[in-house]
Order: sequence, then C-alpha cells, then structure tokens
Amino acid sequence: MIDADTVERYGLPGHLRSVPDEIDAHDLHVTGTLPPELNGRYIRNGPNAVPGMTSAHAQVGPGMLHGVRLRQGRAEWYRNRWVRTGAFEGRPFAGPDGRLDLTATSANTHVVHHAGRILALVEIGLPHQVTLDLGTVGPCDFGGRLATAMTAHPKLDPATGDLHFFGYGMRPPFLTYHRLDSAGRLVHSREVAVPAGTMMHDFAITEHHVVWLDLPVTFQRHLVGRAMPYMWDDAYGARLGVMRHDRPGAPVQWFEIDPCFVFHVGNAYEEDGRIVLDAVRYTKAEFTSMWSLLSEMVVPPGRTTVGRARLHRWTLDSGTAGAAEQPLDDRVVEFPTLDEERVGRPARYLYTVTGTEPLSRDECAIVKYDTFTGTTTAHGLGPDTMIGEAVFVPAPGRRNEDDGWLMTIATTRDGTASRLLVLDAADVRPVAAVDLPRGVPSGFHGSWIPDD
Ligand SMILES: [Fe+2]
Repeated sequence: MIDADTVERYGLPGHLRSVPDEIDAHDLHVTGTLPPELNGRYIRNGPNAVPGMTSAHAQVGPGMLHGVRLRQGRAEWYRNRWVRTGAFEGRPFAGPDGRLDLTATSANTHVVHHAGRILALVEIGLPHQVTLDLGTVGPCDFGGRLATAMTAHPKLDPATGDLHFFGYGMRPPFLTYHRLDSAGRLVHSREVAVPAGTMMHDFAITEHHVVWLDLPVTFQRHLVGRAMPYMWDDAYGARLGVMRHDRPGAPVQWFEIDPCFVFHVGNAYEEDGRIVLDAVRYTKAEFTSMWSLLSEMVVPPGRTTVGRARLHRWTLDSGTAGAAEQPLDDRVVEFPTLDEERVGRPARYLYTVTGTEPLSRDECAIVKYDTFTGTTTAHGLGPDTMIGEAVFVPAPGRRNEDDGWLMTIATTRDGTASRLLVLDAADVRPVAAVDLPRGVPSGFHGSWIPDD
C-alpha cells in the first residue's frame, strides 16, 4: 500500500495517497452528455491503506472498490468500500515457510463479473465475492473446488462464456490452469509443469490455446516475509508456452524468447497456424527499476522515471518452434484493454494509457492503436491529471468494433479531485465527465458491469 507516511518519505505524488474512509454520494454533477445507453456500474479496484496500518510495500494494501452507478443519462451514485479480506483485518498472508493463507489476501487488483458473481481479485489469493453495492460476501473457492490462488487477469472466452484463469505459487504446484464453465462451475483444473515458481501476472487465450508467460522473475526464498518475494533472475531464461485448452492433458509447446517481463497482455489470436501475442514488454532495466520502487520503495539513483514499457508483438510458429519479436510502438504505455468480445480473436483496436508509470511527469494520454494500419489516436489529459486503465464498453447494436465508449477515472496529480471520464472510443474524444465527490487514488483495474 502507499500510505501518507510513505508519500512523505519518498516524495510520491498525492494521487497515490490512500483515502481514509468509505463514503456515499448521490446525483453527481455531469459535464457533457452521458450516453443514455450506459446503464450499469463502473467499478475499479486498487490498494488503499487502512488508517493506522503501515507497510513499506506499494502493492499489498487492502483492496478498495470505487463504484459509479450510471443510469439513463444520470450518474446516480458514487461509493467506495474496502473489500473485507484478511489483509483488511490485518491477518498475515504468508507464514515463515512461505505457506500462504489464501483467504488472508488483499483482493486489490481487479474486479470482474462472471456467471452472476462479481469477484475482487489479486495476484496470489482466493477471489472475494462482492455485491453490486460493493459489499463483501466473502472468499470464493467455487464450492471447495479451487485449491490454488486465482490471479487477477482471468480471460472470458466470448464464444463459450467460459472463464479461463490460473493460479501460481511459491511451492509446487507452481502453475495450475483452471476453467469455469459459463454457469460459473469450476469444471477443469490441471497442473502445468514449469521449472520454478515465477511471478506470472497475466496470460492469454486464443480460440483453442492458452499462452503462458514463463519469464525470469522468480520466487526467492531469502525474500520470504516481503509481500512479493520475487526478483529478476538471469539464470532462468524466458519462454512462452502454447497449450491447447480444449484437449485435457495436451502438452505445452515452449518458445524461447529474449528475456523480458510482461505484466499485461493486450490480446492473442490464431492466424495462419501461428499464435500472435501483443503485450506490454519491460526490459530487465525497466523491470528492475520499477520493482525496486514497488517492492522496496527504493528509487534507483539517478532515475526520474521507472518502469517504462512498450507494446510488443510475438509471433509463435509451432511448425518451426520459432518466436519472432517486433516492437509495435515507441510510446511508453501500460494497462492495455480491448473489446472483450474479441478476446482471443483478431482485434483491430487496442487501448492503452501513457504517462502513468511511477514518478513520471509526462502528460497522461489514452492511446488507441489500430493494429491493422499501425496508426494511433491519442487524447491527452494535460499536465495536471493522472488517469488509469481505460475500459471499453460496447455500444448496443454496434456496427463497428470501436462503436462504444472508454471509461477511466482521472485524478489530479495532487490527489484532491477526480472525475469519471467517458470518451467516444471511435475518435477518443470525451463525451461526458462525472464529478466524483473525492479524489480517488490511482489504482489498478476495473470493469463495466451492465445492468443486463
Ligand atoms: Fe494487472
């Protein structure tokens, strides 16, 4: 968590300060015109210190959900709630032997909906089910069937309604693949053999495959006691794995790649018998500088920016076992999103944000990539505004992939004020801004949960 003390010690900007309480506000002021088709809730997750609780770690604060209810052109309410987890209660997450209490998690990274459940998710821990009003139901192990963690980036297959996800651990099984059917039942789990426990924040699916990111950030026993005892490890190498998800027990084909790290996948798909993966790639130097800040709250000497990552494409050919790599753009970006009805299929558009890496003073912008033409469209927010991930919401009855809106929370750099921005995804121009009743700290991921 980044609490007020940490901000003072390290001079981090005010938009990383936690808020001290839970509030409700109604009938929010709107600038512009909210599309009347937007009926639902935008909910975003992120770490938020509990007053009196301190930690030197930037990522493990208890999860707090910020929600905005939109209906028939009005912004009916905003509210924020901590997710009631073991971390919220102050229970320790890991024992001295590295054994984890999967319910003592922070649930601070993402919030998704599937088969009638809304789940708050984190890197290593059980999901926590919450309500449409952001109350906590409790930890969810899918009727006792889930014996590992569930990481924060499950993938919904738009054709089947299945939710693909995985868990990773510091001790065997290091990696386990899981699938929920469209009714939310955990119907398949299998261990995937990897050499060691690595930090695996995200993965990809295609129509028939799972793509694994087995990258050189490995579990370090001597760091047990820290929230995330993982470090860059030159000896590990780096590989992407391709595994049929529609054939139980299918082998994994591994592709050696140049060492790098990926927090977030944009998309993957099958094309002419190959697998194409677009993701945001960190070099060793960029990863280690950011990891120092996030895990140890140390800014490497001389660094005024940390963690500058770029959109990258890997093309995996199962016939030759070759992996071709190609940068897609020079911009420093993160938090890639897309039309979720195209997850695992060729998608023309990816949406990212730039200027959001820790310590950056660069202008934040939403950047839309047209992956067919290689062109970009950007909308800058000016020098004093931070933004987070931009979530794509399709328009009802749309004709084009980008008929819809992007939603993101924008916060002043000093953390004193926030708005929910709604942009037309076709031209990346704002159509409405909802004034929120407080500054909402920068956080991680969110979802639009439509009423229907
Ligand atoms: Fe993430």
